[in-house]
Amino acid sequence: MKVRTHISRDEGLIFERSSPGKAAYKLPQLDVPDVDAGKLLGASARQDLGAMPEVSELEIIRHFTRLSTWNYAIDLGMYPLGSCTMKYNARVNEVVARLGGLAEAHPYQPEKVSQGALRIMRLLSDYLLDITGMDAITLQPAAGAHGEMTGLLLIRSYQESKGKPRKKILIPDSAHGTNPATAAICGYQIENLKSNSEGMVDVAALAAQMNEDVAGMMLTNPNTLGIFEEEIHKIADLLHAKGGLLYVDGANMNALVGKTRPGDFGADVMHLNLHKTFSTPHGGGGPGSGPVACKKILEPFLPVPVLAAKPDGSLALDYERPQSIGRVKAFYGNFGMFVRALAYIMANGCDGLRQTTEDAVLNANYIRKKLEDVYELPYKSPCMHEVVFSHKLQAAKGIKTGDIAKRLIDYGFHPYTTAFPLIVADHGAMMIEPTESEPREELDLFIAAMRAIAREAAEEPQLIRDAPTTTRIARLDEARAARNLILRWKKD
Ligand SMILES: Cc1ncc(COP(=O)(O)O)c(C=O)c1O
Repeated sequence: MKVRTHISRDEGLIFERSSPGKAAYKLPQLDVPDVDAGKLLGASARQDLGAMPEVSELEIIRHFTRLSTWNYAIDLGMYPLGSCTMKYNARVNEVVARLGGLAEAHPYQPEKVSQGALRIMRLLSDYLLDITGMDAITLQPAAGAHGEMTGLLLIRSYQESKGKPRKKILIPDSAHGTNPATAAICGYQIENLKSNSEGMVDVAALAAQMNEDVAGMMLTNPNTLGIFEEEIHKIADLLHAKGGLLYVDGANMNALVGKTRPGDFGADVMHLNLHKTFSTPHGGGGPGSGPVACKKILEPFLPVPVLAAKPDGSLALDYERPQSIGRVKAFYGNFGMFVRALAYIMANGCDGLRQTTEDAVLNANYIRKKLEDVYELPYKSPCMHEVVFSHKLQAAKGIKTGDIAKRLIDYGFHPYTTAFPLIVADHGAMMIEPTESEPREELDLFIAAMRAIAREAAEEPQLIRDAPTTTRIARLDEARAARNLILRWKKD
């Protein structure tokens, strides 16, 4: 036998593979005069390059290829991380985004040679407006939370333009953590709204709390329990009656596209996560995109530049907007993401987008039905695109949501989202979002794994407490790993 364990199991650092004199390249003899870098660059010339690994091309290729196999990815298996919509990123998006004229377009190139890029932005904007039922849009924000900040700045400017700046933003206790963080960053006081026993906004509590100090409310719909806010019209009316605005966190639009539109159920402003709903890549800190769409009343405040049509029909970027909140991003946003999202929308078409929503909701409810006898459902309302269980039944044996998630790794799945949303008692949430990408076969494997873990929790709980056991490293002390970061390789 060549090796006992997987060859990449104990991969060393590239520095540890180094041996003096090895190189991954061989250059031909210099046939031009040698130039002294010191003379050319003066003090900026770096003489000491530090310790560099000396390895052959084969070693370097194998090292990084082996490391790449350590990653879990949507291309390897189901990634049911609730609230993150880890759907499959279609390859056609990548092909289109890599077309030379798009990938190499420069943000400083003149408008007249950028008409194609501007048309892509226009077309994507128009589709997103159609999908959301809103009137105007900016594509600039780089992520969902950045979109939230942009949206709240629009609300703030609007309220100021009315001559009565307001102090508070209402946020339900089921909200994503970015919502209160955004409101605080925008200078608002946050007032918490309690959910009712069905996991929805308590409308009577809202009516009691709403007053003329409230600038608006941030609401995710479907909310982070995966439940559609059925009284959304009433909520919007209550806010509007007292001059407040409704911000819809549209990060969960995967459950609504092609079915219902926030613009029709009372939203004044919202963001979309292209890196969730519209299949552009995300995770690992890669560039995201969080366009913000709004109703006409907020349009004057949109960040500059705004896409505009000239009388001759060509497109231009308009900076002359006196009421604008200003810039929120360098240039025009993450353009490559616009291309990918547009490719996704056009490849699916109207029917395809609607089908996608239906499949996402069907998949989540399939899991809900198949697991509800072994995991507790803290909120019983039918779910939309994600389902939230709790660890209540397993906690009786000392097994928590985090333990079950670690055991899932042993069964070959990425864990679900643990301990979120926080309103689930005892921080025991198990939040599962399969997305529409998963075929029935993969869902069944996942369900079988979750059922096996429920059995183990009852019969062999130690197995779960020790998980994961099939990974390169055993369970980490996560708090210590986060507080005591070691980011640099040191020889001794
Ligand atoms: C409901 C909700 N709101 C906001 C966000 C924030 O988006 P981002 O991570 O792109 O900043 C997320 C992220 O997943 C989310 O699920």
